[in-house]
Amino acid sequence: MADDVDKTNAAETTQQQQIVLIGEADSTNPNIRKYKNLTYDITDPKYQGLSKNALKRILKEEHWNATRDERNKRQKEKHKKKHAERRKLIEEGVIPAPPPKRPKVVNPSNVQVAIDCSFSSYMNEKEVKSLQAQLVRCYSANRHCERPMHLTITSFDDLLKGMFDTKEPTYSNWKDITFTNDTYLDKFDKSKLVYLSADSDNTIEKLDEDKVYIIGGIVDKNRYKNLCQNKAQEQGIETARLPIGEYLQMASRKVLTVNHVYEIMLKWLENEDWNQAFKAVIPGRKLKDSKWLDGAKEGNETQQEEGSVSKDTKDDESIEGNGKQQEGSISEDTKEEDETQQEERSVSKDRKDNEPIEDVEA
Ligand SMILES: C[S@@+](CC[C@H](N)C(=O)[O-])C[C@H]1O[C@@H](n2cnc3c(N)ncnc32)[C@H](O)[C@@H]1O
Repeated sequence: MADDVDKTNAAETTQQQQIVLIGEADSTNPNIRKYKNLTYDITDPKYQGLSKNALKRILKEEHWNATRDERNKRQKEKHKKKHAERRKLIEEGVIPAPPPKRPKVVNPSNVQVAIDCSFSSYMNEKEVKSLQAQLVRCYSANRHCERPMHLTITSFDDLLKGMFDTKEPTYSNWKDITFTNDTYLDKFDKSKLVYLSADSDNTIEKLDEDKVYIIGGIVDKNRYKNLCQNKAQEQGIETARLPIGEYLQMASRKVLTVNHVYEIMLKWLENEDWNQAFKAVIPGRKLKDSKWLDGAKEGNETQQEEGSVSKDTKDDESIEGNGKQQEGSISEDTKEEDETQQEERSVSKDRKDNEPIEDVEA
């Protein structure tokens, strides 16, 4: 195809004298020229006085704009096809389902939680590592739920700090969470504190926005029965246990991990229903030989819900030695590239190892 510069022959009209001609003239109308797939009218004043390159640029630009709708349509179809293929693979179980997305409309609750991490000396290194992973899970659950709570990690000592520095170097940028070396007594009004303990004689009925609930930051496989209950009692702090027994007859003791307690609280805040919260969060393994008192089948209906906090923990048989699923959930949920999600993605990127997370205390 000709790509000639033809100033001399472009003298059909005085207007055209300054036009640079590129491409070939149409056989029926010499004023219409075709350059590659671009067509233009040499009498159009907008093309006058342009250099060859400027003319090409304008023609390309016009072509690009004129074909935008068609291009978008093609792109949409491609996207739709890809999406359908991916959905099929998920349905067939070839690839895992995407993790729950952070809800767009977040309605924060004023309930406060302090995780008391003053028990490092009661744990071996593996247990401290598990605790660290459980704290990450609490943070992640808080970021992906409908009604996040105010979370403070108290008595955050050098051992835990060192682990966070190595495994989650961006943790100091995390949102809605405070890490402090102070104790909960330093941080909060004592009269507002309620220490949660499976060993308490009091049962909690509802979460109160005026209270600060303390969860014992310990992984002890139940070696230290009454540890947190006694500590709270000595300090003159109110204690309470979750009302598990009202909804579930359990074969094993009703002592849960830090993150499960936290997730149950988050789930309760969604619709103020303990039964649903327990069903959504208490892991399958803990339900072995147990009975829901409402007659529901053993197992977990709500865990299957997409977007449920505990979806990641639904097969909690695999929690021990498997912190990965949830970690993935933080990282995969990064399609919308806002600051928050970049920050969340960094949570998982830095946690490549498959930390064991201790499950329900025996
Ligand atoms: C693994 S447990 C620690 C068990 C420890 N032996 C103790 O003395 O509490 C971690 C924390 O989760 C909370 N927790 C676990 N199960 C609970 C339940 N059934 N009711 C209330 N809090 C519970 C408590 O705050 C507890 O300190």
